[in-house]
Amino acid sequence: MSIQAEARRVTAPEIRARKGGEPIVSLTSYHAHTAQLLDRHVDVILVGDSLGMVMHGLETTVPVTVDMMIVHGRAVVRGTKQALIVVDLPFGSYEASPVEAFHTAARILKETGAGAVKLEGGRRMAETVRFLVDRGVPVMGHVGLTPQAINTLGSFKARGRDDAEAEEILADAHAVSEAGAFSIVLEAIAEPLARRITQEVATPTIGIGGSPACDGQILVLEDMLGLAPRVPKFVKRYAELGPAIEAAVSTYAQEVRARTFPAAEHVYASRVKKVS
Ligand code: KIV
Repeated sequence: MSIQAEARRVTAPEIRARKGGEPIVSLTSYHAHTAQLLDRHVDVILVGDSLGMVMHGLETTVPVTVDMMIVHGRAVVRGTKQALIVVDLPFGSYEASPVEAFHTAARILKETGAGAVKLEGGRRMAETVRFLVDRGVPVMGHVGLTPQAINTLGSFKARGRDDAEAEEILADAHAVSEAGAFSIVLEAIAEPLARRITQEVATPTIGIGGSPACDGQILVLEDMLGLAPRVPKFVKRYAELGPAIEAAVSTYAQEVRARTFPAAEHVYASRVKKVS
């Protein structure tokens, strides 16, 4: 079988072509095992810099490094065969110039095998998006609430609820779309604004706290599985794995203390014949 026939991964241009079509299904994942479980069900897996908070207990995404993104990005690529893997460019690794962004993005694509990168920011990042796309790096944009800017935003509250802010975010989405992004995440913005952006821009929009009208949706996996103690309003919890894990661990602890685990079926018999 030729290498071409084996290459079955979703590509950035395929996602780009889904504008107004079948909704794009996306989730985050940071490690091989969960990525493998997601792979047959989603179009896009984002190795988001939210991994800093979810996996590493950081308060914000600001301290996340390129090396952290590469370790988790590689694991997710190894665990998957089908989904398009997108890796976030972390704070401080791309904003200074388009050239810096290209070096970071190229390193991430080479060292993880991912198919695209995501970066935060609208008009201020449009030149960088164009620079990357022109040099072979597919870019997913991200506007609205941009968590890497938490220190200037001051809070994680929803954006675009008044006319002035809505116009700013609309202009951001247009700029990133026109710069060549293959999709744009719309995070935590007023629903009518997310709907309007989706109608106006030629690029598929992927909502997280956006609108059902978006061209796709994304959630942080641990949030929708019920592993996070507190979640934003836009998260639907599709399972309650937190309590399920705690119940399993509690039973295990009791059984270890009572010496009922391991039972006979969990231990190895000896091959050595008993000698008296
Ligand atoms: O880092 C992340 O997980 C993200 C999603 C919330 C879109 O950017």
